[in-house]
Amino acid sequence: MNDKPVAVITGASRGIGRSVVIALAAEGYDIAAIARSVDSEGMEILGPEVEKCGAQFFPVGLDISCTTCQKEVVANILERYGRIDVLINNAGVAPLQRNDVLEMTEESYERVMNINLKGPVFFAQKIAREMIWLKQQITDYKPVIIFMTSVSAVRSSTNRAEYCISKSGLSMASTVFADRLSLEGILVCEVRPGVIRTDMTAKLKDKYDKLINEGFVPQKRWGLPEDIGKAVASISRGDWNFSTGMVFEISGGLNIHKL
Ligand SMILES: NC(=O)c1ccc[n+]([C@@H]2O[C@H](COP(=O)([O-])OP(=O)(O)OC[C@H]3O[C@@H](n4cnc5c(N)ncnc54)[C@H](OP(=O)(O)O)[C@@H]3O)[C@@H](O)[C@H]2O)c1
Repeated sequence: MNDKPVAVITGASRGIGRSVVIALAAEGYDIAAIARSVDSEGMEILGPEVEKCGAQFFPVGLDISCTTCQKEVVANILERYGRIDVLINNAGVAPLQRNDVLEMTEESYERVMNINLKGPVFFAQKIAREMIWLKQQITDYKPVIIFMTSVSAVRSSTNRAEYCISKSGLSMASTVFADRLSLEGILVCEVRPGVIRTDMTAKLKDKYDKLINEGFVPQKRWGLPEDIGKAVASISRGDWNFSTGMVFEISGGLNIHKL
C-alpha cells in the first residue's frame, strides 16, 4: 500500500485537469492521471512535471463514457497504489456544434450526457465503494470526491442545452453522493467554474474578451486553470471538512445577482 495519499483526476491531459494534477502533486499526492489516450503530448509532458513535485505519475487511458471499461481502470489504479484518497471527476466536453435547443440532435445529446454525466456518476459510484472499504484499512484516511460542474449548471445557454442539462444533472449527482457518503465519512463537493481560459473556450476567445471587458465577469478577467487547481487543493487538503455537499463557484463573481 502506498504511504502517500493518491489522487485520481479525469481529463488530466490539459486545461483545468492538468492544473488540478500539478496542484495536488505539489500538495503531496501521488497521481493517477486519466485521459482518453496516454500517448497525447499533454500526457507526455505532464509526467515529468508531476515527478518534479516529488510525486509518482501513473497515466491511464479511459474514455469516461465507457462505463464497462471503468472497473478495470479502478482495479489497475488500486494494483499500482493500493489506495485512492481523492477523485476529481473533471473530464467533460462541449457539444461539437452549438445549435439552438430546437435543433439539438439526439446524437449530440447522448454524446454530451454520456461523457459529462453518466460516465462521471458511475465512476464515482465505483470509487466510492472502494473508498468505503479502504476506510476500514487505512488509519487517518480522509477520502474526498469532487465533481467539476460549470456555471452552466444553473445558467441557460439556448445554443448548448445538452451541456447545461448535463452539468445541472452532475450538480445533483454531487448533492446525492454527498448525502449518501456523509454516512461513510467521505466528503463530496461540487466545484463550479466560470469562464476559464482552456482549449474548451479557445474558439470563443473574442466573444469572451469582449464580454469580460464589458463587465460580464465582475472581477473583469478570465479565470485561469490555476484558480481551479488552488480551490481543489484546498478542499482535498481538508480546509472544508465540515462542508460536504458544498458548491464552490470559482467564477470571478458570476454568482452575484445584479440589478
Ligand atoms: N473552460 C471552461 O470555461 C469551463 C467552465 C466550466 C466548467 N468547465 C468544465 O471543466 C472540465 C474541464 O474543462 P477544460 O476547460 O479543462 O476542458 P479541455 O481543456 O477541453 O480538457 C478536457 C479534458 O477532458 C478530457 N476528456 C474529454 N473527453 C473525454 C472522455 N470521453 N473521456 C476521458 N477524458 C475526456 C480531455 O482529455 P483528452 O482529449 O486528452 O482525452 C481533456 O483532458 C470540464 O468538465 C468542463 O465542462 C470548463
